[in-house]
Amino acid sequence: MIAGATEMEVWHEELPPPYEVLLEKVRDVEGLLSLLSDRVDATLMDAAPKLKVVSNLAVGYDNISVPEATKRGIPVGNTPGVLTETTADLAFILLMTAARRVVAADNYVRKGQWKTWGPMILLGQDIHHSTLGIIGLGRIGTEVAKRARGFNMKVLYHDAVRRSEEEERQLGVEYVSELAELLSASDFISVHVPLLPETRHLIGASEFALMKPTAVLVNTSRGPVVDQKALYEALKSGRIFAAGIDVTEVEPIPADDPLLTLDNVVITPHIASASFSTRKNMALMAAENLLAGLKGETPPNCVNPEALG
Ligand code: DGY
Repeated sequence: MIAGATEMEVWHEELPPPYEVLLEKVRDVEGLLSLLSDRVDATLMDAAPKLKVVSNLAVGYDNISVPEATKRGIPVGNTPGVLTETTADLAFILLMTAARRVVAADNYVRKGQWKTWGPMILLGQDIHHSTLGIIGLGRIGTEVAKRARGFNMKVLYHDAVRRSEEEERQLGVEYVSELAELLSASDFISVHVPLLPETRHLIGASEFALMKPTAVLVNTSRGPVVDQKALYEALKSGRIFAAGIDVTEVEPIPADDPLLTLDNVVITPHIASASFSTRKNMALMAAENLLAGLKGETPPNCVNPEALG
């Protein structure tokens, strides 16, 4: 689709281009299709004087300095909607896997530790009829809430914006105005907020201190929303029961990160949207955003439409 419409250069390596290489490569480009592992900041935009559009292959765009793009009249595209349910599926998979210790159980079998059936072996937390607290009831949080209903869970949510009573009734969710109240009342806590200065370390030591010792934390949003050192302490000390995370503060997580020594955390490598059909739809959407921007039009999914006035 892009190749047919314009001249393009594709970075084929597995690892992202080093920042300095990217600075070189963007010198003459009019469009940039970026991944969330590419930092697109003011310096990079200054190095690309012809740049007309940035299209990010993700719904999140914390890797891009959007105000800097807007200042330069560069629209930024993202891929909302198409990955919502696939991401919600993974949040629920992590919730269940961490609660029922599926990875620990699989390792137990593979290591030859399964000698007999025992009433106290590998006990976990019930999911059905428990309470799920959702932080951020946007598109993905809403889909997680729908999945929870199938498990007869009570669903609480905390968000800057409260839904209408009718929406809350239809979704079967209850608004909690104080985050602290949600944290102390929930058996499961699933985080669905974008990474912003005000959401960095939204969950830290004082938030873990409010959680039940049986609580399970799920994070499929962005790693820095959770203070990872505090998460390690909470899991190691038994302050909370378990966690399932698809994102880490540094990605990939360093091999010597202490979190990797714990068996009450399940970690996946930022794959929440990684299904064949969702990745195809994201790619199509990113291509449409890019091509529109190259034509001087506002991309169909644009996070800063004001960039083009
Ligand atoms: C996103 O889109 O922001 C995810 O993190 C990757 O799909």
